Amino acid sequence: MSATTHPRGLFDAQVISNRQICREHFRLVLSVKDFPAAAPGQFVQLGCRDPHAPPDEPDEHEWIDADDPGLRTRSLVAPTPLLRRPFSLAGAEPDPQRPGCTLLEIIHRVVGLGTARLAGLREGDAIDLLGPLGNGFPLPRAGQRAVLVGGGVGIPPMIYLARALGAADVGGVAVCGVTTADLLPLTWADGVAADPQGLPTRCIREFADFGIDAVVASDDGSVGVPGRVTVALQRVLDHLALPAGDVVVYTCGPERMMRAVTEMSQARGLTTWVCMERSMACGMGTCQSCVCRVNDKSSDDGWRYRLVCTDGPVFDGRVLIWD
Ligand SMILES: Cc1cc2nc3c(=O)[nH]c(=O)nc-3n(C[C@H](O)[C@H](O)[C@H](O)COP(=O)(O)OP(=O)(O)OC[C@H]3O[C@@H](n4cnc5c(N)ncnc54)[C@H](O)[C@@H]3O)c2cc1C
Ligand code: FES
Repeated sequence: MSATTHPRGLFDAQVISNRQICREHFRLVLSVKDFPAAAPGQFVQLGCRDPHAPPDEPDEHEWIDADDPGLRTRSLVAPTPLLRRPFSLAGAEPDPQRPGCTLLEIIHRVVGLGTARLAGLREGDAIDLLGPLGNGFPLPRAGQRAVLVGGGVGIPPMIYLARALGAADVGGVAVCGVTTADLLPLTWADGVAADPQGLPTRCIREFADFGIDAVVASDDGSVGVPGRVTVALQRVLDHLALPAGDVVVYTCGPERMMRAVTEMSQARGLTTWVCMERSMACGMGTCQSCVCRVNDKSSDDGWRYRLVCTDGPVFDGRVLIWD
């Protein structure tokens, strides 16, 4: 776990497609020229301003507060998301149509102003982005199996990880948790059903394409295994029945879920890599808004703060202190 030193930059990207894939999620594909090599677990900060805002209605206004004579600085009233928003990469591969360009895949859920703007992007629109940011997931050693546990908006980095595992010829199982069926941002593979007992099958296309089996769980039981993702994870780990050194667990999603996953896998002695998605502003180590706590025996208190954006977002589950 060390502060990132990977190349990164500010880029203009072109929207290739932006398709709604379930009730609140969109799959956004961008083409970016000269984008540095990226890895699963890394993220980008997307500019979310509205490219379709009418020119006679500027979406930023400046004013001086006449009621406060002491206030001399100009303030911003911002009905637009001024700060870029962080999104994990769900994929990054050479753009076959545009030499020197990379296709970036982002799966975003509409939860507020910025993501609502992203939902309105159309083919050919321009958007700026900062990236690739943070440190990616360490890949398993030869012979190990990967277990990918994604919950909600934590599923996208698992798709990119599956691609990397496929390229490295590493097998694995994806365990995907959603609250309800129509919030599953994944595609069912043709002709392959999910196993009713929660045993892994090639039922999800995004994983099956790279040789990764999958299990889906839903909180309300409307799809897959009823219950929390940890119910499905327990079954998968029991089913694999491998020695601790042969399994590596990767997780991303809500913090309570990641904590439960980490505790379960650590109780079995499994290495666990956790991708934190703390709210963040700059994404590059400047604003200090994204701290988490980690164990550190060299500090007087036995712990210290680390920045999720540059020291993470991927952390070894053993060092994290869950608040
Ligand atoms: C490293 C990282 C990777 C991420 N990857 C993805 C991804 O692949 N797909 C995806 O859909 N989202 C992802 N997110 C979350 C995404 O950044 C937020 O949903 C987005 O910034 C919300 O912007 P908004 O303007 O639409 O919402 P806002 O109007 O800013 O906020 C709407 C609501 O969402 C809450 N919120 C905002 N950010 C977060 C957060 N990080 N965690 C929990 N709640 C939050 C706010 O508190 C508020 O209640 C990621 C976040 C991080 C830090
Ligand atoms: S988001 Fe600014 S320091 Fe991490």
